[in-house]
Amino acid sequence: MSSEKVDQLMQAMTTAEKIGQLIQTTADVFPNGDAVVTGPMKSANMSAESVYTIGTVLGISGAKKVEQIQYDYLQHNRLKIPLIFMADVIHGYQTIFPIPLALGASFNPETMKIASQVAAQESAAGGIHVTFAPMVDLVRDPRWGRVMESTGEDPYLNSVMATASVQGFQGDSLDDHHVAACVKHFAAYGAAEAGREYNTVDVSEWRFKEQYLPAYQAAVDAQAALVMTSFNTLFGVPASANQHLMRDILRQEMAFNGVLISDWGAVAELINHGVAGDHQAAADLALKAGVDIDMMGYAYAKYLEKAADLDTTTAQLIDESARRVLELKDKLGLFTDPYRGLDDTREATEIKTTANLQAAQAAAEDSIVLLKNDRAVLPLVPETRAALIGPVTDSGDILGSWSWQGDPAATETIKTALSAAMPNLTFAAGSDYRTSSVRDLKEAVALARQQDVIIAALGLPADESGEATSLANIQLPAEQLVLLRELAKLNKPIISVIVAGRPLDLTEVADLSTAILFAWFPGSKGAAALSRILLGEVNPSGKLPMTFPRSVGQVPIYYNEYRTGRPSTNPFGRDDIKYQSKYMDEVNAPLYPFGFGLSYADISVKAIELAQTTVTPADTLAVTVHLENQSTISGKTVIECYTHQQVGETVRPVKSLVAFEKVEIAGESLADFTIEIPCEHLASVHQDLHQAVDSGEYQIMVGLDSDNLITVPFTIE
Ligand code: GLC
Repeated sequence: MSSEKVDQLMQAMTTAEKIGQLIQTTADVFPNGDAVVTGPMKSANMSAESVYTIGTVLGISGAKKVEQIQYDYLQHNRLKIPLIFMADVIHGYQTIFPIPLALGASFNPETMKIASQVAAQESAAGGIHVTFAPMVDLVRDPRWGRVMESTGEDPYLNSVMATASVQGFQGDSLDDHHVAACVKHFAAYGAAEAGREYNTVDVSEWRFKEQYLPAYQAAVDAQAALVMTSFNTLFGVPASANQHLMRDILRQEMAFNGVLISDWGAVAELINHGVAGDHQAAADLALKAGVDIDMMGYAYAKYLEKAADLDTTTAQLIDESARRVLELKDKLGLFTDPYRGLDDTREATEIKTTANLQAAQAAAEDSIVLLKNDRAVLPLVPETRAALIGPVTDSGDILGSWSWQGDPAATETIKTALSAAMPNLTFAAGSDYRTSSVRDLKEAVALARQQDVIIAALGLPADESGEATSLANIQLPAEQLVLLRELAKLNKPIISVIVAGRPLDLTEVADLSTAILFAWFPGSKGAAALSRILLGEVNPSGKLPMTFPRSVGQVPIYYNEYRTGRPSTNPFGRDDIKYQSKYMDEVNAPLYPFGFGLSYADISVKAIELAQTTVTPADTLAVTVHLENQSTISGKTVIECYTHQQVGETVRPVKSLVAFEKVEIAGESLADFTIEIPCEHLASVHQDLHQAVDSGEYQIMVGLDSDNLITVPFTIE
């Protein structure tokens, strides 16, 4: 239902002015404007007059700049309809949080919510009204660089995190300390074939609805104000032209009634896809699919050339879309105050505050994953004689991609943080990310020889994460592996700290390292978090939100696979049983499974009990989990609850995450946790593409990762 203001404007606007509301460009078309470029730039080739009718801009922020642009714009816009300012505030504005994949590894929705809240508060002070986040694409292929923007491979984890993120960004009332969330990329962009960026996606509608759709639905249910179309095809049609996907599924089945914005240039790219012959045809297809805003495509600008004689259907579709854009402006309070949130005092006092930086550090501490810790070599004591070696050690490049307002040069490095805490630490780079020299190598080895422990800080640079960064090889760069091999010859404990935005093939790193910490891109306070974990001031509790393969040959690999007609009876080993679903030259099992992460404490699930072993689909399954911590130190861990349905109307995953809870348990103690699982979480997509909870025999499986589980049967009547 539109407000009176929107109705009045719709009455007063010309067709050309309505078309203008559907066009988004970077702010460099205005005086004082500039552009953060995240896609191929094209000239706006719009008349000076029509530029002052566009509805929204992207990629600019800063109280003074936004105020100047908004003021100038309103001087020229006939009906004084303000601009919306949109930007990619993905995992922080100036206080950069760990990348979303790391936040997924926290398995802590409160951590995700806080990260989005802080990002909203800081970016709103900088004049942003809409963020192009959360990205909730389900991902299973670490060759794709954008896995860093997702929260991983599981529909349920992604749904919980999507909800938390939208709530964090938008708050309860979209006030001027919050921003509207734009959930993306609709849809199934993470299923790009071969992990190759922008590549074809071809999943069945059954699989789409069972695996990929839930997180988008969760974000829509959390009232995300916008949805962004994805670059890829789905069901044979590019998303931005896909009426079935956008009208039948998104608008009807998912009941989304907010603004649908294209991704950068995606409407014009319908020509490249080969479904439109020119810009006008592309615009017609997108408009019919219900795309309200054409981001940087200038296809909708073609309508300006014939605004006076549009056919009725096109005019009506333009009305619908223009109304949705105006409703968003109304919801944001921009008609009341076009300068909402803009306040350079707030900018000076509410950005990169101590509290915000502490929140970013807590998020990093909550998401770093301990993958290996032989002989309990970790934690170290501050006096440890350690050599810090590797290209990541002295780099501020730990913010990750999509941290555009972040400043790597002003980011504390691992060397700085560790040197402050470890008086005997020595340091040598040993190599760069992808280059090395004999001299650097020798210097590093010589330095390590003088110390008792080696901390090898290795990984990938931030610009090898995010959009357009697909990699066919997911091992560490050869130069870094050579460095690690030379360090391993010293026969000293090696603690490998990996900074990257994707699962890597760590098979050789695991062979050469005594311990491994996977730090992701841990953000503005990631070095401090890492230092506290290395020294045991924080007990690591992150869990993998994506499976780590032994080799890229296993990809795509994910825990919730289907059984097949000839399941492998020996996923961890190789044997001479021929006719099974397996490889001849590799085991099926990953290097590290989904949900895996160690602790310094010795925590385990001793037993589980069901309050009822026979329930109905309307019931809630109550699982009591008996946890034990046999060590003296307390620790956090994640209780992971999976189910398996023995017989389904369609094939069923070998296990599905249906609940999880991050808990803390004191040293040398027992603790019971009861987790409630609504049976509706056990629904499956039937052949008619509708969800239903099947009656039958199920198993509940509980553990601290997706492999080591205690299983109990139950029945749904
Ligand atoms: C980019 C990305 C999208 C981003 C948009 C605006 O190409 O695909 O995630 O929000 O353009 O920068």
